[in-house]
Amino acid sequence: MKSIHAGELRAEHIGQTVTLAGWVGRRRDHGGVAFVDLRDGSGIVQVVLNPDNEPASDDVLHGLRSEYCIQVEGEVTPRPEGTVNRDLPTGEVEVVASNLTVLSPAAALPFQLDDRSDVDESLRLKYRYLDMRRGRMAANLVARSKAIRAMRNVLDREAFLEVETPTLIASTPEGARDMLVPSRLRKGQFYALPQSPQLFKQLLMIGGVERYYQVAKCYRDEDFRADRQVEFTQLDLEGSFWGQEDVLTVLEKIAAEVVRDLRGEDIELPLPRLTWTEAMDRYGSDKPDLRFGMEIVDLSDAFADTEFKAFTGVLGDGGTVRGINAGALGLARSGLDALTTRAQELGAKGLVWMVVEEDGSLRSPVSKFLSDEERGAIVTRLDATYGDTLLIVADATKVARAVLGQLRLDLGQPTGHDELSFAFIVDFPVFDVGDDGSLSPAHHPFTAPASLEDLVNTPESAVSKAYDLVLNGSELGSGSVRIHDPAMQAKVFEVMGISDEDAESRFGWFLEALRYGTPPHAGFAFGIDRLVAILQGEPNIREIIPFPKTQTGADPLTGSPGRVDESQLEELGIEIAPAVLESWAAAEAGDTPE
Ligand code: AMO
Ligand code: AMP
Repeated sequence: MKSIHAGELRAEHIGQTVTLAGWVGRRRDHGGVAFVDLRDGSGIVQVVLNPDNEPASDDVLHGLRSEYCIQVEGEVTPRPEGTVNRDLPTGEVEVVASNLTVLSPAAALPFQLDDRSDVDESLRLKYRYLDMRRGRMAANLVARSKAIRAMRNVLDREAFLEVETPTLIASTPEGARDMLVPSRLRKGQFYALPQSPQLFKQLLMIGGVERYYQVAKCYRDEDFRADRQVEFTQLDLEGSFWGQEDVLTVLEKIAAEVVRDLRGEDIELPLPRLTWTEAMDRYGSDKPDLRFGMEIVDLSDAFADTEFKAFTGVLGDGGTVRGINAGALGLARSGLDALTTRAQELGAKGLVWMVVEEDGSLRSPVSKFLSDEERGAIVTRLDATYGDTLLIVADATKVARAVLGQLRLDLGQPTGHDELSFAFIVDFPVFDVGDDGSLSPAHHPFTAPASLEDLVNTPESAVSKAYDLVLNGSELGSGSVRIHDPAMQAKVFEVMGISDEDAESRFGWFLEALRYGTPPHAGFAFGIDRLVAILQGEPNIREIIPFPKTQTGADPLTGSPGRVDESQLEELGIEIAPAVLESWAAAEAGDTPE
């Protein structure tokens, strides 16, 4: 239906007769002649509809509205002097239509499709198929495809095998809630949708696939955030006879190729590495944004003999005093007090702010409680100069890191994504330690501990062979060296509080598989949505997902999740609980929102 794509037309095509097909974009009328932007997947070209040439009946020409799907035959001509559009790749030419056919008319649009209009997101999602005709979504779809192709290209060169794994599986412990699918043939039983292909990729290693990858759909019933959806996509990979270094090397190749293909830029390799402890101490986060400094500095020893009560108390309890130099914020007293409130909301007992005066003295409500040496140490350690605002928190190490890490982001994080700052975070702890000292696994329980002895004797400080890749303050992906010894796996289940019987009933099949000559193996999974969102400068992964769910897990386009027929439920042996039926009835009566 077309001889060339609209966006490909250039001066070299002048004089040719072409056939184009696409949609009607902007239309301008000038003394009987209409100028129409014809848009297809490749771009836009201007089409001239001059009634004198009789490209179609007057009725058709008059009735042509936005987003009609049309076919145009015509001659490529140079644009008249003064009308060349330098902003458009096709801006030197236009196509003078000799024949126009309406392939399909368009109903009145629910919103303008130009990129200037700000459209409510729920409306955009309800009409996603129209939204993706707009420049932003169209570009994001192209970027996503390019990113996945770049990943496949690298992994293909590295001799990885692409293998699919099932999406109706038994539940796996990845830390989120499972999405469940009821079975009709086995009433009362449920499949889980995979939170990731973790155990299947390990089975592939046992099965002799030495390099595996998959663009895998994953499902996690967790609360939505800007970088979280219930349904998302991973680039999942795994290799046998591999350790951490082998994995990180491949990840660097993938990151470099994706950035090159999407942005035409080279990133510097090897990527920087920080241990988890370094990242937490210097940036207060396990996904530090390294595009800016403002590092956290430990000031505890400078206050060893302090008279300042707020600090003595904390240090006496084994806490820490840490600070950041937030630079020349130029805040008034109210702004500084707002920072204190923010720190308290984040969980700190308090916040000391200090502003460096021209004579080098420190303006602060607590300055008078500090000795000359203490004030001097603050200035030196925080590398402070005239005008700088210094923020200090005394608290338990965990709190001080987290609060200063967040203040650092509040005050210093760049908003754009022009600059890219990748880093590996390595040597993660096995456990997250809760405020009450309780331990919860930081990674899935198939991650190898650095030392089984440490895991058993000092679990709270034990290190695992797990690593993350971060970009501009986001966790792009994570992975680990796996346990390949069934005895070690059983021990780790035990330390993680999964009882013998529980492990046997849930993962007995996996423990058994480990007994048949399992190769040492390691792997990783990228969050593709997050990676592409950051590279495209998008604040939310919904912009990168063709058909995403809203904040409340709904799809306004197809109306999922939705109720199903009574007969479907009957076949599955499922009844809706009376309380739920009552809440539906109440919602229908308009009493409460459903
Ligand atoms: P993990 O659970 O860290 O590891 O997930 C890997 C990456 O997937 C992305 N991701 C998400 N993206 C969007 N929405 C979500 N709800 C969501 N949850 C996770 C993140 C994350 O870094 N099987 C292990 C990997 C391994 O050990 O090989 C796993 O799934 O970018
Ligand atoms: P207070 O002694 O509680 O009146 O606090 C005096 C000043 O020290 C106030 O500005 C508090 O915000 C600050 N402050 C109190 N506790 C801490 C703390 N743990 N870390 C940092 N600043 C604190």
